[in-house]
Amino acid sequence: MNELAAATLGERPAPAGTRFRVNGRPVEVAAAPALRLVDVLRDRLGLTGTKVGCNAGDCGACTVLLDGRQVCACLVPLGQVAGRAVTTVEGLEREPRTRDLQAAFHRHGAAQCGICTPGMLIAASDLLARDAAPERAAVLGALGGVLCRCTGYRKIVDAVLDAVLDAGGSAGAPAAPTGPAVGARVPKVDGRAKLTGRERYGADAVPADALWLRIVRSPYPAARFEIGDLSPLLGRHPGLERVLTAADVPVNAFAIFPHLRDQPVLADGEVRFPGEAVLALLGHRGAVARVADEELPIRYFPLQPVIGIEAATAPDARTVQAGRADNLLIAGRCCRGTLESQEAAGTVRSEVLFETASVEHAYIEPEAGWAEIVHGRVEIHATTQCPYMDRDETAHVLGLDPEQVRIVPTACGGGFGGKLDLSVQPLVGLAARLTGRPVALVYERPESMASTTKRHASRLSARAGADAEGRLRFFALDGAFDTGAYASWGPTVAGRVPVHAPGPYRVPTVRAEARAWLTNAPPAGAFRGFGVPQAALAHETLMDDLALTLRLDRLEFRRRNALRVGDLT
Ligand code: FES
Repeated sequence: MNELAAATLGERPAPAGTRFRVNGRPVEVAAAPALRLVDVLRDRLGLTGTKVGCNAGDCGACTVLLDGRQVCACLVPLGQVAGRAVTTVEGLEREPRTRDLQAAFHRHGAAQCGICTPGMLIAASDLLARDAAPERAAVLGALGGVLCRCTGYRKIVDAVLDAVLDAGGSAGAPAAPTGPAVGARVPKVDGRAKLTGRERYGADAVPADALWLRIVRSPYPAARFEIGDLSPLLGRHPGLERVLTAADVPVNAFAIFPHLRDQPVLADGEVRFPGEAVLALLGHRGAVARVADEELPIRYFPLQPVIGIEAATAPDARTVQAGRADNLLIAGRCCRGTLESQEAAGTVRSEVLFETASVEHAYIEPEAGWAEIVHGRVEIHATTQCPYMDRDETAHVLGLDPEQVRIVPTACGGGFGGKLDLSVQPLVGLAARLTGRPVALVYERPESMASTTKRHASRLSARAGADAEGRLRFFALDGAFDTGAYASWGPTVAGRVPVHAPGPYRVPTVRAEARAWLTNAPPAGAFRGFGVPQAALAHETLMDDLALTLRLDRLEFRRRNALRVGDLT
């Protein structure tokens, strides 16, 4: 661990306390001057409304006011705040102007997952203190340093502008567009908590006496490895209590679909993607952070990685998973009519070939959670989109009945499908069981991006034909999807794409096929649409192209071929 990291965790002898004001209150913090302000606020002062998204000044989730101007608290060392004034989201309710801002956010539903909301409110309050009647462009500029992955920004910007118009907070909820129920705008039940910093996300309520886990991950996309004697490491690092390896995991395999459990919690002698978990350091927070990767007795024997669909499907391709000699995870198919005869009869035809890239969800909240044993049951608090699936798979991994595991979902700071897979749950559950102590795990941003699921990269070839009247006659799609090293939601993608491949169009003859190929990439999983957006690129391009060839208006062509109620019965 480097010097800055040591200071960040407050491991160095503390100098005299640093005095400053937080939300109008004088405080004194005895800690290293290089400690990040965001860690001081969250870990020393309990002000967890300020969030950590990237710890690198990129996402703005940790934005606070320093002497009235917005700054990223992850980039400000404690030493620089001596004698100055800090305002966090928890302090916004003190002033009428910022209360108006919170009320406007609530009216507009501007806090969706809410993880960016504290930063947005702080940035907006900075602007409104300097410009009482800002233009939209000024609002966009002021909020430009805070990223939101949920809202598309419109509601947030509208809320800031509305706060100016409605200073004093007299406005109620906007008028319902259609009746009192369907279409009406209703306040979010958890809106206030997200606007005041009281909402608790995965990293916000870790017990003070928790042990911490740090996962050591593979630098290689494909390698065999051996772990040597770990006792010297434990001897060198007081506070490092244990190192977990595959041998510690009772049933070392999980998946989304129980019949396809192919992913280990900790790799067992072979890693299959860069960032795969190899072992986990368990101990006091500073102790696990202090261990340098170079100290670990892990010896890798790199293998030729299978990168991309072409490599996975090559006749001499190396096998990513034993037992799947052709690297095919699964295939899906949807057919109607006889394609060949319709192709021959079509008047016009179009053909496309697409390649799409893997995409990271980049939710602002990295994976986080903690576990403890409550009345003999493993209780896991974690950011998740699917607590019951988490419960069943975690119980399986721990060799327990589902009733012996309880998942308590924290607020979820964005997921978009990425938090439909397990992340911290099995390891915190395992460690809590082994130690009988609360155990926490919070991913860092690079770790989150390296190890969690992605949108499937794909290669799609599709063709469609229509008659002279502009009626679709046939549609065919052949989709290859890079599903990465393990199954995750690959079967859903392979199964769903063929069904949705022709889009919302009535086509008498269809042949749509999809295959999910195993490679040495991070597992590809759920991401808003399960492969359907990739297929939409193909069918919408084909519709445009056919309309152009037939000299028809593109909308008219679509209308003529749109599915109607009853077509699918
Ligand atoms: Fe902005 Fe979710 S509401 S990231």
